[in-house]
Order: sequence, then structure tokens, then C-alpha cells
Amino acid sequence: MISLIGVSIDHRFGKGDDLAGIILRAIESCAELPGGLQAGDILVITSKIVAKTEGRVIAAPDREDAITAETVRVVATKIHERNGIPVSTRIVETEHGLILAAAGVDASNTETGTVVLLPQDPDASARTIRESIQQVLGISIGVIITDTLGRAWRLGVTDHAIGASGIHVLDDLTGTSDSFGQQLQMTMVAVADQLAAASELVRAKASLTPVAVIRGAHTWVTSNEQLSARDLIRPTADDLFSVGTAEAKIEGAHNAVYARRTVRSFTDSPVPAEVIDRALHAAASAPAPHHTLPWRFLILVRGQDDSLRAELLDAMQTTWQSDLAAEGRTTEEIAARVSRGNILRTAPTVIFPFVDLAAGAHTYPNIDGMNSGHNNDSERIMFHIAGGAAIENMLISIAADNFGSAWISSSIFCPATMRRVLDLPDTYWPLGAIAVGQPTAPARERPEIDVQSLLIRGKSNG
Ligand SMILES: Cc1cc2nc3c(=O)[nH]c(=O)nc-3n(C[C@H](O)[C@H](O)[C@H](O)COP(=O)(O)O)c2cc1C
Repeated sequence: MISLIGVSIDHRFGKGDDLAGIILRAIESCAELPGGLQAGDILVITSKIVAKTEGRVIAAPDREDAITAETVRVVATKIHERNGIPVSTRIVETEHGLILAAAGVDASNTETGTVVLLPQDPDASARTIRESIQQVLGISIGVIITDTLGRAWRLGVTDHAIGASGIHVLDDLTGTSDSFGQQLQMTMVAVADQLAAASELVRAKASLTPVAVIRGAHTWVTSNEQLSARDLIRPTADDLFSVGTAEAKIEGAHNAVYARRTVRSFTDSPVPAEVIDRALHAAASAPAPHHTLPWRFLILVRGQDDSLRAELLDAMQTTWQSDLAAEGRTTEEIAARVSRGNILRTAPTVIFPFVDLAAGAHTYPNIDGMNSGHNNDSERIMFHIAGGAAIENMLISIAADNFGSAWISSSIFCPATMRRVLDLPDTYWPLGAIAVGQPTAPARERPEIDVQSLLIRGKSNG
């Protein structure tokens, strides 16, 4: 049987107090613990009194600075209202590896005008208390130091072990069998947290009961000095939820642009329809002149549209060959150019984007001798630019889905051929072709770009 006994202590804790001595005296006078501490007992102590005896108390106005000082990393920021005023609470990671609101800096159960920090090293504090008590009593006990933490997915706070000594903090049941004889695959029980949470039942917050003794849980008491509450911290590499949802979204939005790189080598895997659908929606969200939706897309999927793909690419190639011949290239030069591996023939999916000027481009009289640029060429360029915006959106969306893309210029150079093969009107302007597929290798590192070198410096801005 496991029993939990609350130990009330009527003492105003302060820096330098002999905590182990005070706890021992309180236990001696505890009616429910007539024989005092016994071997195998576990002493659970709130971190508040440990911190106070270690002098970790500061003036309340310094609270925000103290939280900043205790913070290794901000995990999430929660904005909520208190008495009609917006207040922000930082959920942070501390030096201890704990993730908790306000770095555990707490204004409860302390003198008005002060706040209490967490102990500097709660595992060391637990070790010191345990050693002192074991020395006095000559018995082996366990010590847990607790703090009250909120939980990401569940309402209500519970106490957790933030420091421990002489305790099997984790019970790894992996490889053992359940009551049906089935092997447990990856079950680790957070024993120290369970004991901490249970102890809170007899250490009500306002009851001046900062200590509990757990009796009957000696199985979890150990002389192994290596075990500590630090062992309960999930390694960063295994942490699926290392930042808050809002923060992860912001980070993802910023990173999306940089996730796109030109990928020129794909596996044979097809591109799921939803990846292309999301990319189309992203494209159609690009800015465009005159409130139009001027983009058009031909999507060719390998295994479904192979004959049209071959017809189109063959026609583009023929046009290219004759253009190269017209430029005076030799037959060998032309053959060498055209024989280069063509990603558009092999990519799992190819998208041919166009802009259709009939979707809303204005027309101009194109008066001879008028140099202002207020003419049909400028209007067409404007729609082409909107096409570029749509394609970039599309490529970013594809990259966000962990697929790769290469924007290949070819069709831009043969608009007439594209229109002829696809039976499109003259208002259609091809914007290249986008090869899409699953990359064979991770994206290359993006080189650092000196954006200053891209700035135009006019006379007035230096
Ligand atoms: C309009 C346009 C046309 C492009 N045409 C080709 C092309 O014909 N062949 C090719 O391999 N890459 C082409 N690219 C891709 C660029 O080479 C590539 O974007 C550049 O090397 C930068 O690399 P990154 O996209 O990984 O940032 C084109 C890019 C754009 C924007």
C-alpha cells in the first residue's frame, strides 16, 4: 500500500535556512508519522521553499527581467486578458530544460512585492537534502522537488518532478509483457512525475504544507546517484512539439520561400493530385492586374498524358532546331544542344503555365512615335509579370509539400508552336514549363546573398 502524508511547516522560509533540519523537525512533530521517516520513504518538497532557502527571491518589479534571464528559448507566447488589460505570458525553456510558463517565476506563497525563481539546480538541491537527512538518520530515502506546471493538451495544473535524488525517475517497461502476454513496445512510466502529482493531493496550495512523505513506494527508491529529474526531459531531437503552434506557423511561413530550390533530378514516384491542387490554389492567389485571373495551366501527368507531352516537346524541339540553324549553328552544335537530358520528358508531372491576355488585358492605340510605354507591349509585360508571381507561388507550395520543381524556360521561346499544338488563340502566352517530382536528394544549401549589392542607389538615398 502506498500512503501519502502531508507535513505542514509553520515557518517563513528565508535565505540560508537549514531546510533539511526544518523538514526533519516538522516530520518529528507530525502526528501521522509517529516513527518519523523510515527507510524507503520518499520526501516530496515544493520547489518554492527550496528556492527561498537558496535566496532565489527578487523584487516583483524585476519579474519580467528575471523571466528573460531564466529563459534559454521562448517556446510560445500567449496573449490573454486580465481585468480587461491584455497580458502576455511567455512559455519558455529554462536552463534546466523545463518548458513552463514565465520560467517558473511565481508570485504565489511569497511576501507581497516579491517573486520566487526556481532553484538554480533542483537536482543538486534534492541531492543535498537527501544526503543531509540520510546522514542524520542513517537510512536510505528518496527526494523529489516539485513545481506546478500547466499541460499543453489538458486543462488543469499538476505537480512535476523538477529535481530528484535517489529515485528511479523513469520506469522503462519496454520489452516487458502486458497482462495479455503482449510485449510493450515503448512504454516508459514517468514515476517521479506521478509521485510528484500524487503528493500535491496532500499539499494543498494554501495549507502551509510544503512537504509530503510517500510511504510504500520504496520500489522506486535507489542508491544510484546518476539518476535525476533531468532524465525526464525529452531530448530535443525527439521533440515533435518544440515550439508553439502560432510560432511554428510564423516560422513555416518565413521558411516556405527558402524551401524552394530548383530540383533537376526526380525519383519515379508520381506527384499526388493534392500537391498539384494546392499548387494551383497558391498560383491563383498571386497578384494580377485589373483584378483578373489571367493564368492558365496545362498539366501533363506521366502515364496519362504521354502522347500529348511527346507531341508538344517534339514540336518545341523542332522549332528550337530550326531557330538554332537560322542563327548559323552547325549541325553538330545543334545536335549537341538538343541531345542534352531533357527533364521535361522524364519528370513525373509537367505543368505548362500561360497567361491569357483575353482575361482582361487593356488594349492601346499603339501610336507610332509615342515613347511613354503606354502601349500593348507594356500591358503584355505586366501580365507576364503576374504570371511569374503565380508560378513562384506554385513552386513554393510544391516545396512546402516536400516535392521539387524546376522552372524551365523553353516554351517562352516558341509561343507560336505552343499555340499550334494546343490549338490556343494568340492571346495565350507561354511562361515556360515546370517539371515536378520527388527530389532524389535533399535541396542544396542556399548560398548567402548580398542583398545590398541588389540595391539601386539614387542621388538622394546615397
Ligand atoms: C523564367 C525562368 C526560366 C528558367 N529556365 C531554366 C531552364 O531553362 N533550365 C534550367 O535548368 N533552369 C531554369 N531556371 C532555373 C534557374 O536556373 C534557377 O532558378 C537558378 O539557378 C537559381 O536556383 P534556385 O531556383 O535553386 O534558387 C529558370 C528560372 C526562371 C525564373
